[in-house]
Amino acid sequence: MAVREKDPVSGTELTGHEWDGIKEMDSPVPWASRWALWISIAVSVLYWILYPSFPLVSEYARGVLGYSSRAEVTAAVTAADAGRKQAFAPFASEDIEALAADTSLEARYGASIAKLYADNCAACHTENLKGQPGFPSLADGHWLWSGTPEEIEYTIRYGINTLHDETRIAQMLAFGADGMIEKPQVKEVTEFVLSLSGQDHDAVAAEAGRVVFEENCASCHGDDGRGGYENGAPDLGDGHWIYGGSREDIYQSVYYGRQGVMPAWEGRLSDAQIRMLTLYLLWNAEDAPS
Ligand code: HEC
Ligand code: HEC
Repeated sequence: MAVREKDPVSGTELTGHEWDGIKEMDSPVPWASRWALWISIAVSVLYWILYPSFPLVSEYARGVLGYSSRAEVTAAVTAADAGRKQAFAPFASEDIEALAADTSLEARYGASIAKLYADNCAACHTENLKGQPGFPSLADGHWLWSGTPEEIEYTIRYGINTLHDETRIAQMLAFGADGMIEKPQVKEVTEFVLSLSGQDHDAVAAEAGRVVFEENCASCHGDDGRGGYENGAPDLGDGHWIYGGSREDIYQSVYYGRQGVMPAWEGRLSDAQIRMLTLYLLWNAEDAPS
């Protein structure tokens, strides 16, 4: 091997590379960098031995520690589930009447149930429970299907006008569109409905509308229009409307009918969650001005 030229000042060998008269010295890699390299190689070899690393033919090298991130996540999820079950245990084991009588639950669980409501119900009934056209208020204390804990739980579980076998059915017929009554009668009965809620109305037309009402509507809405709790027909005199209480809205309801759909939550929410939401509605309706 040829003897290489040396740097005259430091005595270090030169590599033989030269740029514009500047010659490159063949300095060794600094010791700290060299050691860092050796240590990182050693650590990675240790990792191959301890942890899952190489793919094998039908398996993979599991490492002597037998660590699995999947097992770790599964254990964490199981623990969280168990924790949740325990935290919400009263809702799973007690019946709705007993739960409704327990006044300590609202302070303890109100906030977490509010989230459950926001995730599942607010899209239709709105965040503040006050509803919007087509979706009834759940906070006004006026119930279509009575406000007992059991009935509310039933509504949430099976829904209204759904495909579930146990569904509630609420059918406001299309009296005008289906030709069950004539257009002038739709107008008259509309005036009568306006009178029921104390709104401005044509008194003569409303008188004629009373007869139309008795013959066609009272069977569901009651003789005085105050609704019944067996068929979901709303009270037409309380000033709380699902679809709006203006002359035009009422006319539309009577002419074209209404069949609101409230989804069935059985299978999508657990029994405990359905009970929690039932209580949530009761707590909120309790504070509502009627
Ligand atoms: C897709 C829209 C939609 C969603 C989501 C929804 N609802 Fe409803 N809900 C309705 C409609 C529409 C009605 C009224 C049906 C009718 O007009 O007869 C209703 C009616 C109800 C009633 C009956 C009210 C009464 O006066 O008797 C209750 C209780 C209720 N919903 C609770 C809930 C709860 C709790 C949730 C969340 C788990 C929820 N709803 C989610 C659309 C919805
Ligand atoms: C078969 C039972 C039934 C009969 C008969 C019936 N209704 Fe209804 N009506 C309902 C139900 C149920 C609803 C609620 C529908 C819904 O929420 O989707 C309703 C809703 C209404 C509404 C809308 C109320 C609101 O809050 O927006 C008006 C107005 C109304 N009915 C008027 C009448 C009039 C007037 C007649 C007679 C011409 C009549 N109904 C006959 C069952 C009936």
